[in-house]
Amino acid sequence: MRKPIIAGNWKMYKTVSEAKDFATKLKPLVADVHDRTILVCPPLTHLQDVCDILCDSNVAVGAQNLFWEDEGAFTGEVSAPMLKSVGCTYVIIGHSERRQYFGETDGTVNKKIFAALKHNLLPIVCVGETLEQREKNETFKVIERQIKEGTKGLGTGDWEKIIIAYEPVWAIGTGKTATPEQAQEVHAYIRKLLPKDVAANIRILYGGSVKPENIKELMAKPDIDGGLVGGASLKVDSFVKLIKY
Ligand code: PGA
Repeated sequence: MRKPIIAGNWKMYKTVSEAKDFATKLKPLVADVHDRTILVCPPLTHLQDVCDILCDSNVAVGAQNLFWEDEGAFTGEVSAPMLKSVGCTYVIIGHSERRQYFGETDGTVNKKIFAALKHNLLPIVCVGETLEQREKNETFKVIERQIKEGTKGLGTGDWEKIIIAYEPVWAIGTGKTATPEQAQEVHAYIRKLLPKDVAANIRILYGGSVKPENIKELMAKPDIDGGLVGGASLKVDSFVKLIKY
């Protein structure tokens, strides 16, 4: 059985004090939830404080990005050992906003996955088509390329640690959720692309305007194993509703 994951991607929102307040309020409200993985991914500057508050809880903390070298002259970047040193256990890799605004490619995604795994950070690897690609019927081709190129060279032991997030770009932050059927169709396709020996165990999250009102029907689909949530993860009450869908 695949344990569901509800992950909040805070993107570039919240000050440190707002983040600490959120973590402090969230912790007792979800202390009784053990049948799903709960994860928050705050901005870099907040990771230490949020990790300190949540270290003895059932809420894990992840970063939104990393660089593939351990250290060096790479101004502005942060490495896997640095993220580990503050208490992170997950990292989002290849989010469409990073692909769109910061030049991330399937090649950089691949290097980042290996860097994360080397230091025992669990990668959440994002894939997804744009509206233009969907309208041109290129969704499956794009997803196949992103999965194949992004995960090139991974062995079975590596795959066991990977989480995939299908996030159609046209559904992110737009209020336009993919229908559960549209999402399920792509999730099932992704699962077919994964190595046969691990495919049934790999968790595939859906992201793109997930909210308390639509999570139940998304989670009812057989290949949807959780949500990577942006906007609706920023308020404690709505995030708790998502966790307890
Ligand atoms: P959204 O973002 O829930 O605000 O659409 C999801 C994401 O980009 O991870």
